[in-house]
Amino acid sequence: MTKILTKHFDEPKLHELETYRRLGGYQGLEKALSMSRKDVTEEVKKSNLRGLGGAGFPTGGKWETVPPEEKSPGPRYVVVNCDESEPGCFKDRVLVARAPHQVIEGALIVAHAIDAHDAFIFVRGEYQNQYDILEDAIREAESAGYLKRCGMKLMRGAGAYISGLDTALLETMEGKKAWPRQPPPFPTVVGLMGRPTAVNNVETVSMLPHIMVNGGDWFAKIGAPKSGGTVVFSISGHVEKPGVYEFPMGVKLREVLAAAGGVKGGRKLKCVIPGGASMPPLVEKDLDVALDFDGVRAAGTFLGAGGMIVLDETADAVAVAHNIERFLAHESCGQCTPCREGSAWTERILGRLLDGKGTPDDLPNIQRVGENITGKVICALGDTVGVITRAYLAKFPEDFKKRAANG
Ligand SMILES: Cc1cc2nc3c(=O)[nH]c(=O)nc-3n(C[C@H](O)[C@H](O)[C@H](O)COP(=O)(O)O)c2cc1C
Repeated sequence: MTKILTKHFDEPKLHELETYRRLGGYQGLEKALSMSRKDVTEEVKKSNLRGLGGAGFPTGGKWETVPPEEKSPGPRYVVVNCDESEPGCFKDRVLVARAPHQVIEGALIVAHAIDAHDAFIFVRGEYQNQYDILEDAIREAESAGYLKRCGMKLMRGAGAYISGLDTALLETMEGKKAWPRQPPPFPTVVGLMGRPTAVNNVETVSMLPHIMVNGGDWFAKIGAPKSGGTVVFSISGHVEKPGVYEFPMGVKLREVLAAAGGVKGGRKLKCVIPGGASMPPLVEKDLDVALDFDGVRAAGTFLGAGGMIVLDETADAVAVAHNIERFLAHESCGQCTPCREGSAWTERILGRLLDGKGTPDDLPNIQRVGENITGKVICALGDTVGVITRAYLAKFPEDFKKRAANG
C-alpha cells in the first residue's frame, strides 16, 4: 500500500523536529526555496494535487489566481484549514498530532509559492491537543530558523461547522460571525482583511514537502489520471477496524472496505458515505467505483474530505437522513432563507416520519423542499440540505414508503 503522509506514523517521536528532520523533513522546503515561485506552482500543477478539504480544487491552479505583487501590492496570507467539522472526518486531527512539522513545512511552501509572509493555522476549537502540539512544533520551527521569511500563528475556531468553509472561516478570523461570502471574488483575490489569501486544507499542505522532494510527475503517477497522489480516509461506522487509512487515489471502494476489516459482524452492506456526512451514499453495486474526485463524481456523489461512514443492513435510511439533516439544520448559519427555513422543515418532516406519524404527502413534500434549496443559496451547506434527503429517498425508497404509510 503506497503511503506518503502516514509512512512514518510508527515512529514514536515523529512530532518532534529532530525525528522529523532525521526522516528527511524540511528538505522539501529547502528545495522549494531554491526554486522560483512560478516553478513551485508549476511542479504542484504537474502533480495533479487537488484540495483534500472537500472541494477537490486543483491546488496549483488555485495559487495561480493570487494576483502578482505588481497588480496587488501589499500583504498576502496563507491559511491552513484545520477546522475539520464534517461528521465522519477525523484525518486532519491525526495528521496534525502525528506530523505537525509536515503541516508547517507544507504551509511554508505555500507561502513561498504565493509570496506570503504570514501564515495562520485555523484549528477546530475542540482540538486542544492538536493546538498544543502545533504550538510546540511552531516554537521548534522558529528556533530552528524556519520562520524567518514567513511567520506562523495559530487561531482557534469556536465550534461552528460553517466556519470550515473558506470564506466563513475568513470572516471568523476577522472577528465577525461566520457568514459565508458570495464569491467572486474568491479568497485568492480578496481574502483575509481584503488581501489575497490561499486557504488550503491540512492534508493538502502536508502533501507539498513530498511533491517538492520527489517531483510532480512522481506524485501524479501514484494517483488517478486527474487526482494525483494518495488520499487519507477516516473510516467509521459498521466496520471491523475503523481508523485512518491512506490509499492511492483511485483505489476501489471494495479494497478500502476490505482493509478496514469489512462490514462488522459479517452483516450485509447497506451503504457507504464516501466523503463525510454531507455526501450522498454509495451502495453495494458501487463497490468497484474508483475513489478519486472524478470517479466518485461519476457515481453521483463526492469524495469530499474522505470521511467514510459505513452502514450495515440494519441502518434505516430515514433515521440516517434525519440525523444528518438535524445536524445541518443546527449548523445552518441562517443567512440564506431557503437553507435556514428549509433545513428546519426537512428535519421536522423526517422526525414526523420517524415518530410513525408520516403521511404519503410527506415524500413529495421533502422532494419539493429539497429542490427549492439546492442551487438557491450561497454555500455548499445549503446545497447539501436539499440534496441529502432526496439522495437517501432515491436510493432507499422502501424505507421511506414504509414510514410514510404509518400516519
Ligand atoms: C460547510 C463546509 C464546511 C467545510 N469545512 C471544511 C473544513 O473543516 N476543513 C477544510 O479544509 N475544508 C472545509 N471546507 C472546504 C473549504 O471551503 C475549502 O474548500 C478548503 O479549505 C480549501 O482547501 P483545499 O483546496 O486544500 O481543499 C468546507 C466547506 C463547506 C461547504
